[in-house]
Amino acid sequence: MKSMKLKSADIPETEEGLQYHIMLKPGDVAPYVLLPGDPDRVPKIAKYWDEARHVARHREYNTYTGKYKGVPISATSTGIGGPSTAIAVEELLRIGAHTFIRVGTTGAIQRDIKVGDIIITYASVRLEGTSKQYVIPEYPAAASPEVVLALIEAAETLGVRYHVGITASTDSFYTGQGRPGYKGYMQSWMKNIIPDLQAARVLNFEMESATLFTLANIYGVRAGMVTAVIANRVTGEMVAGAGEEDAIKVANEAVRILYEWDEIKNRYGKKYFYPRLILYKK
Ligand code: URA
Repeated sequence: MKSMKLKSADIPETEEGLQYHIMLKPGDVAPYVLLPGDPDRVPKIAKYWDEARHVARHREYNTYTGKYKGVPISATSTGIGGPSTAIAVEELLRIGAHTFIRVGTTGAIQRDIKVGDIIITYASVRLEGTSKQYVIPEYPAAASPEVVLALIEAAETLGVRYHVGITASTDSFYTGQGRPGYKGYMQSWMKNIIPDLQAARVLNFEMESATLFTLANIYGVRAGMVTAVIANRVTGEMVAGAGEEDAIKVANEAVRILYEWDEIKNRYGKKYFYPRLILYKK
């Protein structure tokens, strides 16, 4: 990398507001940002937009900005896990984002959830470390009700098979999700993690939502998540790419719905959306 003068070690951005990790400045992203983990999923999301331009790529952070059905939208990849997700959220907030929808993949832990289905999460179990660098462990990692509702409406409209519930968000894809480590490494709690979470009606594992939801609540912005089920830990089935297109379509459509609801809220001077508000729509 060429040398780049930043404001200070505490404020790692340029005078124009270019953020150190994501390499984006104010004006580069829309207020509504989709957050896949995988940088290669960003163009797959943008291919459904009316217009899309590649804005930046640095480390795991790949960003496109454009319009979906006339609505300004961006997608930025977060990389895998809490630490890189927290960096993306911190820096996107500084340049004007206010609504985040993670579009990820997941491993289901309930038998009736099929590979290829999608899951909409309304809260996450904080089995990761990044959110604990922000706030006490008892603080809830809850999604925004408006984003959850918009994702449900999008899934219904598109006719995809979906589930709604609680997700366990871990820092480890292998041992933290009860998979054996290298050469079969295992501890007793790892054998119990899936049955214990199943008993508590947790639907699935993934690795970013607890960080995203915790930060969104602390900072007073909206966040939600839709994930494609690529594995079922009860049946043992795993199919890379299963459900990915459906999760992408649902996330894009949820942004359009949220935009519409935000316009209605603005028109009637309401801070929060509630279903009856739709009846007043002209
Ligand atoms: N992502 C995860 O975190 N776990 C899985 O099993 C699949 C995707």
